[in-house]
Amino acid sequence: MVAVAILAAGRGTRMKSNLPKVLHSLGGRSLLERTLDSCRLLNPQRRIAIVGYQAERVKEALQHQQGLEFVEQTEQLGTGHAVQQLLPHLEGFTGDLLVLNGDVPLLRPETLQRLLQIHKTHQNAATLLTAHLPNPKGYGRVFCDGNNIVTQIVEDRDCTAAQKQNHRINGGIYCFNWQKLAEILPKLSANNKQQEYYLTEAIAYLQPVMAVDVEDYLEISGINDRKQLAEAYQILQTRIKDYWMAAGVTLIDPESITIDDTVILHPDTIVEPQTHLRGNTEIGSGCRIGPGSLIENSQIGENVTVMYSVVSNSHVEAGCRIGPYAHLRGEVRIGESCRIGNFVEIKKATIGNKTNVAHLSYIGDATIGDRVNVGAGTITANYDGVKKHHTHIGSGTKTGANSVFVAPVTIGEDVTVAAGSVITKNVPNEALAIARENQKIIEGWHKIKTDMGNRKA
Ligand code: UD1
Ligand code: CA
Repeated sequence: MVAVAILAAGRGTRMKSNLPKVLHSLGGRSLLERTLDSCRLLNPQRRIAIVGYQAERVKEALQHQQGLEFVEQTEQLGTGHAVQQLLPHLEGFTGDLLVLNGDVPLLRPETLQRLLQIHKTHQNAATLLTAHLPNPKGYGRVFCDGNNIVTQIVEDRDCTAAQKQNHRINGGIYCFNWQKLAEILPKLSANNKQQEYYLTEAIAYLQPVMAVDVEDYLEISGINDRKQLAEAYQILQTRIKDYWMAAGVTLIDPESITIDDTVILHPDTIVEPQTHLRGNTEIGSGCRIGPGSLIENSQIGENVTVMYSVVSNSHVEAGCRIGPYAHLRGEVRIGESCRIGNFVEIKKATIGNKTNVAHLSYIGDATIGDRVNVGAGTITANYDGVKKHHTHIGSGTKTGANSVFVAPVTIGEDVTVAAGSVITKNVPNEALAIARENQKIIEGWHKIKTDMGNRKA
C-alpha cells in the first residue's frame, strides 16, 4: 500500500510572485500537476496535496484531479511541519508514504517506481532520491556511509564551508515507512537558521535510511526562482525534442522550436525553425510545419504544409496548404486539399474539400462547400453590431474578388458572384449574382476636363 503526499503549501518567496509557486506553469502545465503526474505508475491508494498559501486557488486549479485529497497547513512552518499535518489523516495507515516537494516537475515516473522498489526490497525506514550536482547551491547536502546509508542531511543555509564541499544533494523526494515516521514526527524541532521544522531532520531519527542516486540528475531539479523555471523548461524541451527526433520527426534548428509534451507528432513530418506546437495538438505524417508557425489545440492531417501561420482550436484535413500568413481560430474545420492564405483569417467555420481561400479574406461563422473558389478579398460580414450571423456558400461556387456577404445569407451551389458585389439576399443554385453599381462611361472626358481648365485660366 502506498500513499502519496505532495508538499504544496509554501508561497515560493523566491519566485517574487503573487501566484503560489506550485501553480506556475512549465510548458502548459503547473509544477504541481507535473509532480502529481510523475506518481502515476505507483497506483497510490491515496493522494494528498498539502496546501496552505492561497489554498483555495491551489485547490481550484486541481479540481479535475479525481480522488485527490487536500490537507491544510494553515501556517507554513517548514517541510517537516507540513508532513506533521498528515498525522490525523493517515491514522491507522500501515503502508509506505511517498513524499514529494511540489516543485520538482521533471521526475520520470520510472524513477519513482525504482525508488519505491528499492525502499521495499531493503525494508528501509526511509529511502530518498539523491544526486551529485555540479552546482549544488541551495540544496540540502546528504551525508552517507559507504553503503549509501544516510547519516545526516544538512540544509545549504546550515552547512559549514567543509560540508558545502559535498555535492550529493537531497532531491526532496522520499519514501517513508509511515508508521515509523508517524512515531518520530512530533519530535521535530526548529533548531536551525530558518527556525523551521525540517522534514530532513526526521532522517536523523530513523534507521535505516538509504540514499538512491538518480541516473539523470536533471530529473530532480527543484524550482525555486524564475531562472530555475526557465532552465527546467529547457530540460523539458530537450527531452521532448529528443523523443520526437528518435520517433522519426525532423526538427530543423531544434533550439528555435518549442513543443509541449502534450503534442503528438507522426513520422516523416518536418518542423521548421521558429515553430511552436502547443496543447492538445496532433500532426499527421508527411507534414511540413513552419517556418514561423504557432499551432495550438489543433489536429492536422497528413501531408499538410503550414507556413508562417497561427492555427488554434482547429482541424485541418490531409493535403492542405495553409499560409503563408493565415490565422485559423475557434473551431475551424478545413476539408482535404484546401488552400488557405496568403493573409486569410478564418474563424468558427467549416470548409469542404478542395476549396481555396487563397488571398486576403475574412471568413467567420460560415459553412463553405467543396470546390469553392473564394476570390481574393472576399469577406463575410458576420457581425451586425449586436449578434454574429451565419453565411452559407454551396459547393462549386465562385466568389468574385472583393465580394462581401452580409450575414445571415445563403448562397447556392455552382453560383457565380461578380467581383465587388455586396450580397445581402440569398442566391439560388447556378445563378449569377451581381450586386454593385453599373459602370458608367462618359465619352471624351479628357477633352471636357481640359476645356474646363482652360476656361478658368
Ligand atoms: C527542500 C529540502 C532540501 C532539498 C530541496 C530539494 C527541507 C528542509 N529541505 O529545500 O533538503 O534539497 O527541498 O528541492 O525540506 N512547503 C510546504 N510547507 C512549508 C514549507 C514548504 O508545503 O511549510 C513545500 C513548498 O511549497 C515546496 C516544498 O515544500 O513545494 C519545498 O519547499 P522549499 O522551501 O522549496 O524547500 P527547499 O528550500 O528547496
Ligand atoms: Ca525547493
